[in-house]
Amino acid sequence: MLYSKTHQLKKGGETIELRSAGAADAEAMIELLNKVDRQTKYLSREPGEFTASIEEEANWLKNAESDETSLQLIAFHQGEAVGCCGISPIAAKRRFVHRAVLGMMVEQGFQGRGLGRLMLETSIGLCKQAGFEQLELEVVAQNLRAIALYSSLGFEVVGRMPNALKYADGSRAAVYDMVKPL
Ligand SMILES: CC(C)(COP(=O)(O)OP(=O)(O)OC[C@H]1O[C@@H](n2cnc3c(N)ncnc32)[C@H](O)[C@@H]1OP(=O)(O)O)[C@@H](O)C(=O)NCCC(=O)NCCS
Repeated sequence: MLYSKTHQLKKGGETIELRSAGAADAEAMIELLNKVDRQTKYLSREPGEFTASIEEEANWLKNAESDETSLQLIAFHQGEAVGCCGISPIAAKRRFVHRAVLGMMVEQGFQGRGLGRLMLETSIGLCKQAGFEQLELEVVAQNLRAIALYSSLGFEVVGRMPNALKYADGSRAAVYDMVKPL
């Protein structure tokens, strides 16, 4: 899927260039993922576990850009990547074509300014255009900001996996499955 538009954030008014990422964004994307992995316990990786090379990431982004059912959105502020949001089909099988899965992150310094909402609203619109019928995601049960955002846009909790994550320090977290009909 392709997307490109400039937005002003609702809180703060910063100008954000939001667009589908392509091969040329591989380095910026890797840097962003590694940065946010170090900032939060609410993603699925320990810091340093994202190990794709620039070439591998470039191929992944190139494929997503040319695939009409996948999207890797990247948000830039003054040339620096500050957020991203990915959508892909849940599986490449006929019986699953109606379901998409979403993951997103905003760099700590930009959280709470409306960028998450902007990326999610944009992604929901693009998923509808692509013909998906439901959008799904997983969220750590303590991630109240994310759950508030998802709920406000029509996602509902449909399940809870206890001890879904076990962190390097031995602590654990449950994860909710959330679904939004499109
Ligand atoms: C979750 C995340 C993507 C949200 O993005 P964001 O840019 O911070 O979110 P927004 O600024 O658009 O606002 C989210 C909403 O949560 C609300 N909110 C903020 N802090 C909150 C809190 N502690 N409890 C409840 N709601 C809260 C805000 O009021 C806002 O609602 P509003 O638009 O009606 O004012 C971002 O915080 C993030 O990347 N966190 C770390 C990684 C992560 O958790 N990714 C998601 C994995 S499922």
